[in-house]
Amino acid sequence: MDDRHRNLLAAPPPEMKKPPNSKSSYYQTMLIGSVCGILFLTVMIVALLYCFIKRKGHILKCRRSSKGAEDEKSLKYDKISLRRFGLEELKKATNNFSPDCLLGSGAFGTVYKGTFELEGTLAIKRAHGESFLSKAEFINEVKLISKVKHRNLVSLVGYCEEPGGGVQMLVYEYVPNGSLLEYMMGKRGKSLTWRQRVNIAIGAAKGIAYLHEEVKPSLIHRDIKPSNILIGERFEAKVSDFGLIKSGPTGDQSHVSSQIKGTPGYLDPTYCSTFHLTTFSDVYSFGVILLQLISTRPAVDPKKNKNNSHIIDWARPSIEKGSIEEIIDANLLCEPCNMKVMLKMGQLALRCGAQVPKHRPTMAQVCQELEESLQIADNLICKLPSKNFSKSSKTFQELTESEALKSIENYDCSESFISINGVGFQKFLIDMDRLSFRSENLRCLENNSISIDTDVNTLRRIQEDEAMEK
Ligand SMILES: Nc1ncnc2c1ncn2[C@@H]1O[C@H](COP(=O)(O)OP(=O)(O)O)[C@@H](O)[C@H]1O
Ligand SMILES: [Mg+2]
Repeated sequence: MDDRHRNLLAAPPPEMKKPPNSKSSYYQTMLIGSVCGILFLTVMIVALLYCFIKRKGHILKCRRSSKGAEDEKSLKYDKISLRRFGLEELKKATNNFSPDCLLGSGAFGTVYKGTFELEGTLAIKRAHGESFLSKAEFINEVKLISKVKHRNLVSLVGYCEEPGGGVQMLVYEYVPNGSLLEYMMGKRGKSLTWRQRVNIAIGAAKGIAYLHEEVKPSLIHRDIKPSNILIGERFEAKVSDFGLIKSGPTGDQSHVSSQIKGTPGYLDPTYCSTFHLTTFSDVYSFGVILLQLISTRPAVDPKKNKNNSHIIDWARPSIEKGSIEEIIDANLLCEPCNMKVMLKMGQLALRCGAQVPKHRPTMAQVCQELEESLQIADNLICKLPSKNFSKSSKTFQELTESEALKSIENYDCSESFISINGVGFQKFLIDMDRLSFRSENLRCLENNSISIDTDVNTLRRIQEDEAMEK
């Protein structure tokens, strides 16, 4: 065999020929491929995870923001233990909001009497038209007042939601004897006795004191006035209408800053000038009510001059000199009345109306002082105008309650003009909460009035003559 053939035999066939390190490069390729694969997979997983987390975050964000938007309109997310009424249910209960069921109307809504199978009689407040403002007040009221319960506060029973969320109507306990304003306007027949007036003041003070002192953080009503004090079954006062209610200061805060809201005449002037709201702003409004309970006068009388158009300025001089008879509602003069209690109430009212809020008593103090004077009054001395009574006179006949009652039996207080012991009284026109009306109450005629000598018999004669002429 020649060398060429030997070489050929020794050399492997070309196709069988392997590079000297082929095995390791194969493993190298495999390794690189696997690493790349793993890297690719990791990147993919990370990218997927990133997308997933981002999407989830977006969903959560969307959910949160839509809940927030709903929150403003709906009460679903609040822990409110109120009954949700259906619109149809309320329509049925009020005979489709029939005018016959109308209980009253205010700045924010109309209130209807509703009869329910389970709950009996309830009061339903419907916002005026589509008023956004009314509905905002409604939500404020539900959120702040739903957990508040006190016998001198009208309790909120439930609400009715609009189809797209938002509060459409509020449902309250029904208070059967109207509002204090109706009594002041003489719409409810006989005028209130002095004792009823003091009891109403005590009840309302207790309700407000509860909001200020028992609820945490305190609640400031901001709309204390006669139309928002309702009269219950046993003639107890029930404070209502919490549309303007606001949480009071907390911790070290001395006040909360707030837009001015309320009713002219009852609005605390210090709150108006500083925008600083405290519980003492309600105390000021309550002082105005105390004076109205004594005198049955409007909070602001535009017919008077600027210096005494407000009831506090008008009543102050008489109260400070102790002459409560100068400002007292004449109806109280033709029935037994404890003048000492009335004077105490007047003095308390002036303290409630002090210019510096901190100089005013708290509602709990108001309550206590009123209750104390009522206790003292139980050793009652009743007073009636004497024969020589005149507006500026302080001479009163002191009688026991039964004697006094006997002595007024002959007077008919429903007449327009009457004469008691030679003193003439007359019904009068007043403006109250922007309404002008002829009061059922009586006011002592001015000394120089020619009608002062007019007695019931003369009047009857005049009326008979007039009737004959017709
Ligand atoms: N719970 C109730 N029971 C009986 N009458 C009511 C009740 N709530 C309100 N009213 C009557 O409706 C009137 C207006 O109600 P209110 O809540 O003060 O409305 P607004 O917020 O519009 O002032 C009241 O003055 C009262 O005569
Ligand atoms: Mg009201």
